[in-house]
Amino acid sequence: MMDSKDIVVGLDIGTVNVTAVIGECDTDRNGEPVLKVVGVGNAPSDGIRNGVIINKESASASIVQAVEDAVNMSGRDVEDVVCGISGEHVKGLNSFGVVSKRKGEKPEITEQNMQAAMHSAGGIAEVPDRATFFVMPIEYKVNNQGGIKNPLNMFGNRLEVKAHIITASTSAMKNLKNCIERSEYGIQSMVPITLADCKSVLIPEEEKTGVMVIDIGGGTTEVGIQMNGATYFTGVVPIGGRYVTNDIAAVLKLSGEIAEKIKVNRGACHESLVDPKDTIEIPLISGTFGDRSISRLKVCEIAKARMWEIFSKVKRAVEDANAMQYVNSGIVLTGGGALLPGVSEVAEEVFKIPVRIGNPIGFTVDIEKDGKKIDGEIYKNPKYSGAIGLAQVGLDMRVRAQMARRKPDIGMGSRDDMPSESGDGVLKNVGKWLWGKTKSFMKDF
Ligand SMILES: Nc1ncnc2c1ncn2[C@@H]1O[C@H](COP(=O)(O)OP(=O)(O)OP(=O)(O)O)[C@@H](O)[C@H]1O
Ligand SMILES: [Mg+2]
Repeated sequence: MMDSKDIVVGLDIGTVNVTAVIGECDTDRNGEPVLKVVGVGNAPSDGIRNGVIINKESASASIVQAVEDAVNMSGRDVEDVVCGISGEHVKGLNSFGVVSKRKGEKPEITEQNMQAAMHSAGGIAEVPDRATFFVMPIEYKVNNQGGIKNPLNMFGNRLEVKAHIITASTSAMKNLKNCIERSEYGIQSMVPITLADCKSVLIPEEEKTGVMVIDIGGGTTEVGIQMNGATYFTGVVPIGGRYVTNDIAAVLKLSGEIAEKIKVNRGACHESLVDPKDTIEIPLISGTFGDRSISRLKVCEIAKARMWEIFSKVKRAVEDANAMQYVNSGIVLTGGGALLPGVSEVAEEVFKIPVRIGNPIGFTVDIEKDGKKIDGEIYKNPKYSGAIGLAQVGLDMRVRAQMARRKPDIGMGSRDDMPSESGDGVLKNVGKWLWGKTKSFMKDF
């Protein structure tokens, strides 16, 4: 068990919001480790567009503000963070790797053989400014016998792996790393945001049967498909909730600020939720068009058109990758954009399968404000899924690393492969211990 004084920090650097969650290790009813949230901080995002840093100074200031907010709330110091990777530059694909035993090697499949197979799966053709950052096994074949989840210690001289690999722009990753370091935080790990979302919003049954998680952010919509503990699809559509706001502003000739208020306070994107007689009064603000009322149904039609486009693009990307076959239990929508009433109805019309809204789950909250415990329910909100999921992944990694240190025979890596807990050189091993299976190539970056 992780030492209770160890803290983990999830840092979701979005286009609209930067959110930091500080957590400790708690135990659930069964004695299993669970995240205890002790501080949450938010800052408006500046210098970040669609997951990519476009201005280091501004981005760094937003990061510091969010983390320091969480530090002040929790009274804990932060050393390193688990940072989300998102944006259009993040791409997932399924790949194959193979290794054959050399003469004189022991006959059982070793951890080194598994790592070598994953390395081979991750070795896609070199493309300028793009590298493989994560390789997650889907299944193995030993001497042509397929469907094997864990081949460790099986007899065989040829090992194949089918793996989901995630590639990203090397310059975007370097800028992100540099920006966090500039903020004077270390990096425990960098994790694709879709994996963090899956960690925080899914129930075990969905994860087992097969599910699609769609994180509707401000600038992008990130998609992950998981089944039976493996990732089959990672994708991004470069449109998010901000486009809904922009459309409302453009069509109704409103400022972006008013359009956002209308969307958040009175908006909906499915006609079944709107009385056609409903109107929205636009307040008189100097420099705008003055007092007038607009039809709520009109706002809804504008929002629906954009949400429909987002879901149609997600559907096309998933179908193109032939990955709809894994989505057996339905779709879970999360991210701030999932707060718009009617999103699940629109998604159901597009995909024609069950859709639900996913709030983060599987954590406790222990925060005092003005001498009173705050109600942790406020964090069971889709806009916190990424940051809470990142903290949960960070906790998993620490717990696994500590268990492996005590029992060297569990997991896949050797003791030397474990992520450094000291904060120095952490990028050498980032991600390797994500659910004990992922191979990370971050050390090459
Ligand atoms: N109550 C609400 N109703 C409708 N939309 C909302 C609501 N609250 C937030 N949003 C929308 O959620 C979006 C921001 O979501 P989120 O914080 O998940 O984005 P982000 O992570 O910063 O962006 P990205 O993931 O694209 O980088 C904005 O477009 C905002 O308008
Ligand atoms: Mg986001």
